[in-house]
Amino acid sequence: MKCLLVSDLHYTLKQFDWVLQQAPAYDVVVIAGDHLDIASVVDLQAQITVILSYLKRMCAKTRVVVCSGNHDLDARDFHDEKYARWILRTRQFGIPTDEDSLELEDILFTICPWWDGPKRCARVGEQIERDSRKTKAQWIWIYHAPPDASPTSWSGRRYGGDAQLVEWIARFAPSMVLVGHVHQSPFQQGGSWVDRIGATWVFNPGRQLGPVPAHIILDTQARRALWASCEVVEEIALDAMAPLRPSPVREAPAWLDKRYCG
Ligand SMILES: [Fe+2]
Repeated sequence: MKCLLVSDLHYTLKQFDWVLQQAPAYDVVVIAGDHLDIASVVDLQAQITVILSYLKRMCAKTRVVVCSGNHDLDARDFHDEKYARWILRTRQFGIPTDEDSLELEDILFTICPWWDGPKRCARVGEQIERDSRKTKAQWIWIYHAPPDASPTSWSGRRYGGDAQLVEWIARFAPSMVLVGHVHQSPFQQGGSWVDRIGATWVFNPGRQLGPVPAHIILDTQARRALWASCEVVEEIALDAMAPLRPSPVREAPAWLDKRYCG
């Protein structure tokens, strides 16, 4: 399975255009939250309409999976906790989202919402527990926040990750967790786009300006992951025995789809 991971596009429409154009080269495109930008001058409802239109067009080209991030919360639930109500409308297009799971070949995706209070946090725990009992060869979580105290949550000054996620990773040992949220991690000394916690791979593409988002390409057959930003392109073998040391890429690796344009 070939997967394109981006996150934190924050209503950067040129970056949505790039993802839309690249989508056919992948079995699945994952956008790991923060589709909207709460600091934008564009009204939030207008942003939602535009992003839903992009996602509808994207899923006509390939399988798409999206979760919510902290910028995506547009409603309050019965417990007065914030959540992303609008993102549930992607289900109309066949896009699995918050609290859904998806089976692709023998890979199970568990798509977790951003939680803003204890009740929603407990629901995420129940969702993960429920999916832990399903049969799967590989288990991939989509989760906006990175784990705390990981290079993937290092902002350059402090860790900005989720301590609860660290506990869930230790308990359930998923194959991969695809995250975003801490934009600077891959670009900072001491930070990274990739981490390995026990048997679990964690990937955070980070955020950059410009028409091409920082992105990660995963190939579960070739067992490789590649991170591309405007500064550098790096690759790592998904080999649990190898040291966690991404290497610079100077020419496109053979496992990359020919349609790739980074
Ligand atoms: Fe963000």
